[in-house]
Amino acid sequence: MDSMEYFYEIFQSMPRGGPGDSHSTQKAFEYLTNLPAAPRILDIGCGHGMQTIELAKLTKGTILALDSHQPFLDILMKNAHTEGVEKQIHPMNHSMMEMDFKNNSFDVIWSEGALYIMGFQNGLRKCHELLKTQGYLAVTEAVLFTTPLPAALQQFWDEMYPVIQDVPGNIALIQNEGFRLLGHFPLPKSSWTDAYYVPMQNSINHLKKNYQDTPAALQVFAEFEKEIKMYEQYSDYYGYEFFIMQKQ
Ligand SMILES: C[S@@+](CC[C@H](N)C(=O)[O-])C[C@H]1O[C@@H](n2cnc3c(N)ncnc32)[C@H](O)[C@@H]1O
Repeated sequence: MDSMEYFYEIFQSMPRGGPGDSHSTQKAFEYLTNLPAAPRILDIGCGHGMQTIELAKLTKGTILALDSHQPFLDILMKNAHTEGVEKQIHPMNHSMMEMDFKNNSFDVIWSEGALYIMGFQNGLRKCHELLKTQGYLAVTEAVLFTTPLPAALQQFWDEMYPVIQDVPGNIALIQNEGFRLLGHFPLPKSSWTDAYYVPMQNSINHLKKNYQDTPAALQVFAEFEKEIKMYEQYSDYYGYEFFIMQKQ
């Protein structure tokens, strides 16, 4: 197996693929005050789709749930069925790098913890093209809350995501790309711990037993455990910020 497969195995049993929680999804949605009765929504990098299902409950619209990992889309649709919202959700196994939807065609684009994969600025630009005028974009993005960073944390971010910046820096990017910022707020720490790192550590503990003789797997698990420890030690320095904006 290549290392990506161990990576996906960790996530398979988790409730979601990044920090977040349904309360924060609802709170961000409250900024979308002028929606059509049945909005057309695109969820980029939907993963297991906790937020996709929440969006389906919050609107009468349809949601195109885009992700490049089919097993996540399968989990999403299984959960959507359980919640009775599967008719509103259309899963699409496709890369966000190759989106060729019609410009000006979505009322809402949502992306929790995934737009950075396209490069945050590039992702904002692409979403601006795809949204109708006055359409809404809601995203979470990793941000620095305070600087300077301790040396170990600086090194971590230099390796993981060197373009991470503070909230004002991200707001400047958002405004430069032709959006009006409607609001922003940090995700609570519980959305990193209860919803993400606690299930991740449980998943790793379980997998370690299966892969105790597979160094490549143990290496992947160790990298994620390092990430968990970073958060335990330095969570005052960084987090995810929800940004809600409107295309001008
Ligand atoms: C950090 S997870 C966030 C998932 C979900 N939005 C959440 O908050 O739980 C990022 C997601 O992006 C997906 N992804 C990675 N590269 C992608 C690509 N090129 N195109 C579409 N999805 C991609 C991954 O499969 C994963 O589900």
